[in-house]
Amino acid sequence: MNPSDPATTAAIVKTEHSPVLLDEMIAGLCPKDGGIYVDGTFGGGGYSRAILKSANCKVWAIDRDPEAQQRSKELRETYPGRITFVLGRFGDLTNLMRKSGVNRIDGITLDLGMSSMQLEADERGFSFLRAGPLDMRMEKTGPSAREIVNSLPEEELSQLLFQYGGEKKSRHIAKAIVMARSKAPFQTTLQLADTVSGIVRRSKNGIHPATRTFQALRIFVNDEINELKKALNGAEVMLSEKGRLAIVSFHSAEDQVVKKFLREKSGLIPRPSRHQPFAKDTYSAKTFKIINKRVITPKKEEIFANPRARSARLRIAEKKVLTSAKQKV
Ligand SMILES: C[S@@+](CC[C@H](N)C(=O)[O-])C[C@H]1O[C@@H](n2cnc3c(N)ncnc32)[C@H](O)[C@@H]1O
Repeated sequence: MNPSDPATTAAIVKTEHSPVLLDEMIAGLCPKDGGIYVDGTFGGGGYSRAILKSANCKVWAIDRDPEAQQRSKELRETYPGRITFVLGRFGDLTNLMRKSGVNRIDGITLDLGMSSMQLEADERGFSFLRAGPLDMRMEKTGPSAREIVNSLPEEELSQLLFQYGGEKKSRHIAKAIVMARSKAPFQTTLQLADTVSGIVRRSKNGIHPATRTFQALRIFVNDEINELKKALNGAEVMLSEKGRLAIVSFHSAEDQVVKKFLREKSGLIPRPSRHQPFAKDTYSAKTFKIINKRVITPKKEEIFANPRARSARLRIAEKKVLTSAKQKV
């Protein structure tokens, strides 16, 4: 779910998570009978359910949020022996799967960000529209958004708002936060939302002023970009030949990571200079083939039915059949 989406308000009235780009993800993943698939972002189980329905396969469903585990019960009962829930981070994909006795995977999907359930739970502190503690931790452990906002030096705050939120007023917001916290530390979502609203104006298309600040903090608190990078490397190791990777992202910071990785791994990033000697460490083996040359975005009908799908972007790639043992990762 993308908190920078103006549809965030609309999503709040929903009680369930509507999976985004579901048909397109399934078409890209191509589940096969007897195959082993990983849904790295179980959430409400929409993707897992669709995979289980589409082929007589097995699904390993990962989520770092302990509340997702409870939601996997119904699917475990509907598809006995075919779905296993793994509590953990998709960045630890290789370890988690090997510990579960899985050494090859036929398809991996990630639907990045947070679920509607997380956004709508006041006590989780993800929403700038809901009064709650300034938390935002998917795992419910580690430093919370409150600790970050109250302790990070102004320059670092400004940098993270710019980097992960694309917030043009990052320096002004960071300054206002530091000034406000010198009087009283931030405790709640609405306190922060109010401070940001004093700096950023509501945009013409209705985006709440605190949208980008909340997005940036959530990404930082949950180390989301590093998680994604680790997951991509894990996928390269764990996918079997012709195994598929289907990733849905919701903002450019994530999508750029996926795009760059896949371009690099499919040999689409040229060498910087023809004189530069080929360095083994710099140029990795071509391990992926990009399936969709153009990023896949939702159709108008999907955006109409589920406005928060608006900024979703799906990229699909296939692990190559590697010819020489040297190329194997
Ligand atoms: C957008 S929701 C997924 C929704 C799901 N596709 C569905 O159809 O219900 C994202 C989920 O990924 C989880 N998540 C985010 N980052 C994660 C990570 N690094 N490791 C594991 N789970 C993660 C969140 O806790 C959340 O439940």
